[in-house]
Amino acid sequence: MMSKKHDIIVLGSGLAGMRATIEAARNPEVDVAIISKVQLMRSHSVCAEGGTAAVMRPEEGDSFELHAWDTVRGADFLCDQDVVMRFVQEMPKEILLLEHWGTPWSRRPDGRIAQRPFGGHSFDRAAFAADKTGFFEMQTLYDTLQKYDNVSRYDECYVSSILIKDNVFCGLTVWDLTSGEFFLIQGNALIIATGGACRMFGFTTYSLTATGDGLAMAYRAGLPVKDLEFVQFHPTGLVPSGILITEAARGEGGYLRNSQGERFMEKYAPDKRELAPRDIVSRSEMTEINEGRGFPGPDGLDYVHIDLRHLGANKINERLPMIREIAMKLNFIDPIYEPIPIRPAAHYFMGGIHANIDAATPIEGIWVAGEAGCGSLHGANRLGCNSTAECLTSGKIAGDNATKYVSKQKTLPPAPKEAVLKDAEARVFSRFSSDGKENAYALRKELQKTMDSNVAVYRTGSDLETALNKIKELKQRLLDIQVNDQGRIYNTDLLSALETDNLLDLAEVIAAGALARTESRGAHSRRDFPKRDDVNWLKHTLAYYTPTGPRLDYIPVNITMWQPVERKY
Ligand code: FUM
Repeated sequence: MMSKKHDIIVLGSGLAGMRATIEAARNPEVDVAIISKVQLMRSHSVCAEGGTAAVMRPEEGDSFELHAWDTVRGADFLCDQDVVMRFVQEMPKEILLLEHWGTPWSRRPDGRIAQRPFGGHSFDRAAFAADKTGFFEMQTLYDTLQKYDNVSRYDECYVSSILIKDNVFCGLTVWDLTSGEFFLIQGNALIIATGGACRMFGFTTYSLTATGDGLAMAYRAGLPVKDLEFVQFHPTGLVPSGILITEAARGEGGYLRNSQGERFMEKYAPDKRELAPRDIVSRSEMTEINEGRGFPGPDGLDYVHIDLRHLGANKINERLPMIREIAMKLNFIDPIYEPIPIRPAAHYFMGGIHANIDAATPIEGIWVAGEAGCGSLHGANRLGCNSTAECLTSGKIAGDNATKYVSKQKTLPPAPKEAVLKDAEARVFSRFSSDGKENAYALRKELQKTMDSNVAVYRTGSDLETALNKIKELKQRLLDIQVNDQGRIYNTDLLSALETDNLLDLAEVIAAGALARTESRGAHSRRDFPKRDDVNWLKHTLAYYTPTGPRLDYIPVNITMWQPVERKY
C-alpha cells in the first residue's frame, strides 16, 4: 500500500486545526501535514458568528480572575480550574496575533478592538467581526498558512482509522475522496481537531459535514472520551432549519418573547435575563414551550421569538448583517420589522477526547485541539465565545507541544503490518453491500429523531434507556445497510454510511453516560434527578470503547480556586 510520511499530522482544518498547523509550521525543520474531509475553508468553523472571548480591558475592570470565574460558574463547576486559568491568560495574546495577521475586527470609534456582551460573562468580552467572526478568523489563518512551505495539504481526504502500537501513535489510513486512493500516512505526532458530532441530532446548528469522525475513530482506537453526556443546546436555532441565530443578537440587546409577548427570561434569571448561560436559557425556552406559551411550529418544532425590532435598522445592519440576511433568505422575515422564530438547537460538545492541560492524550504522540478534545475547560456548560477562543489556545498549545516532541524523535515508529492496513481498507470498502436491506439515510434520520426526542434539553432515565436501546438496534441494522455506489471516487453514499457509523458510536456513549449520571448539572438536566449532586457526581466521566458498548469510569475534577456554590443569574 502506498505510504506517505510527515513529522506532524493535523487532522481537521477548522480554527483549531489551522491554528495548530501554523504553530507547528513556524519551526521550518518540521514537516507538517493538514488533512480534511472537506476543502480547508469549508470547515464548520466558518459558521461561528458572535465572537471570541478574551480579557482586553483590565483598565476598565475586566481581569483573568473574572473571566475564569465566569467560566467556572458557567461550567457548573465541572471544569478543571488550572486549565481555565491557563486559557484566560493565553487568550488576549491570540486576539492580538490575529489582529497582526489581519483579522478585520469590529472597532470602537477610537479604533480599538470592540467587545460585546455575551451570555454568562460579567464583562463585555467578545471580540468580534460583525456576526461573521469565525469566517474572518478562518480566512486570517488560511492566509497565514500560505506563508509556510513546510505544510502539505490533503483536502477532501477521509481518515478512516488511527493506528496505535504499544500505546504510541504510528499512522493514519486515508481515503482520498478525489482519486479513490487508499493509503497510509506515517508520522511521529498527530493532532486531532475534527470537532464535535451534533449531526446526530436532527435540529442542530452544525454543518452537514460535522459528524465527529476523528472523535469516533479515536474512541475506537482506544483513547478514552470524557464527559460526552454534556451536549450544549444553543438557545437560538432558527426554526425550522436550525441555522444559528447568534447569541450576539441578545448581546446587542435582543429580547426573547413567548407567544404572549412576555420577556420570559425575567422569571428565570432576573439579573442576567437573555444573557444568562445557555443551559439556563435553553431550559427556560423549553419550559415556556412545554407549558403552552410557545408558537406551533412545523414537525413538532414549536418555538418562541427573538425580537430585534427595537435595536433599529442601523444597529442590525452594522452588527448583525448576516442574521438579517439569513432570516430574510431562509424564512422571508426581515428582523428589522418582525421577530424571528427560534428554539434550542444542538450546538456543541463540552466533552471530547480526554486530554490534560497540555492538550496531550494518554497515547504517546497524540494531542487534541478544539471541540474534538476535552481538556475540561468547559465542564458541564460552555460559555458563548469560549469555543473559538479555545480553538486558538488549544491549537497553539497542541502545535507547540507536538513540535517539541517530534524534534526529539530520531525515527518514525515502525510501519503497521500489511494485514492491519488491508483490514482498514476492507473496513471502508467491503463493509457495505449494494443489496443490503436497510436504507442508510433513513437510519441516520431515525438516530436523529431518537436523539431529538430523548437526549435533548431535558432528560429522564426512561427516555435515555429508550435512546440507548434504539441506538443499539440501529448499530445492528447498520451492518445491513445498502450502499448503492460501490465506486471509490467521490462516493458520498459510502462516506455518509461511515459517518453514520461514527455518529452511532458516539451517540451510544452520550446516552450511556447521561443515563449513569443521576444528577442535573449544566447542560445535563434530568427531570428525575433535578438537583446537582456534588457528593456523588463532581467527577468526570471517561468512556472506553468495547465491542459491546462503552465502559464507563470516573476521575476527579481539578478544583484550585473556587469550591462549588449555587449558580444564580
Ligand atoms: O451564538 C454564537 O455566536 C455562538 C457562539 C459560540 O458558540 O461560542
